[in-house]
Amino acid sequence: MKVLAINGSPRAKGNSDLLCDEFIRGAQEAGHQVEKISLREKEIAPCRACYACFRTGTCVQKDDMAEILDKAEAADVLLLASPTYFLTMSGQMKVMIDRLLPKWQGLGGKDAYVIVTGHDGRGGLKRNAEDLAQILENLGDRVRQIIWGERVWQKGEVIGTKAMEEAYLAGKGIGK
Ligand SMILES: Cc1cc2nc3c(=O)[nH]c(=O)nc-3n(C[C@H](O)[C@H](O)[C@H](O)COP(=O)(O)O)c2cc1C
Repeated sequence: MKVLAINGSPRAKGNSDLLCDEFIRGAQEAGHQVEKISLREKEIAPCRACYACFRTGTCVQKDDMAEILDKAEAADVLLLASPTYFLTMSGQMKVMIDRLLPKWQGLGGKDAYVIVTGHDGRGGLKRNAEDLAQILENLGDRVRQIIWGERVWQKGEVIGTKAMEEAYLAGKGIGK
């Protein structure tokens, strides 16, 4: 299967990044074709709400979102990973999600996974996880698993936690 992993953290080798990589390791071992997109490396402007995409199917803004839309459409499986910022997803992730508008009707029918991280326990990450899961479900996707990178703050703190194994096993279990 074609898997697209999108990481919304601005920190390279941060906790979301490390969990993504574990998920990807599992998915690759199971024979899936995986692509990872780090939003920190992309230029994505916020949606302007001009609704031109409703008429033309494409966005008037020419930036890195076009490539992400094509890859998201082609994927069988989507992974959204985001740190928790003020209780919900990072700004980078939200800006990317708003820019899904041109293809919002063409992104359903996929298996989906969510990774959330944060210094809080699960209660504090719940809104972030639920927001991401509900957005995927509204697109028509089936959220198979949420991976909770809880109680991690500094870069790398997630190493050695059970979330790392859960991410690996989730990737390995794709399609099962
Ligand atoms: C602007 C900002 C807001 C944050 N807000 C929260 C929060 O509301 N809840 C929480 O648990 N952690 C919060 N954190 C901590 C991060 O979620 C945590 O460090 C996480 O591991 C970052 O993920 P990363 O390592 O993938 O970058 C915040 C961090 C920043 C920079």
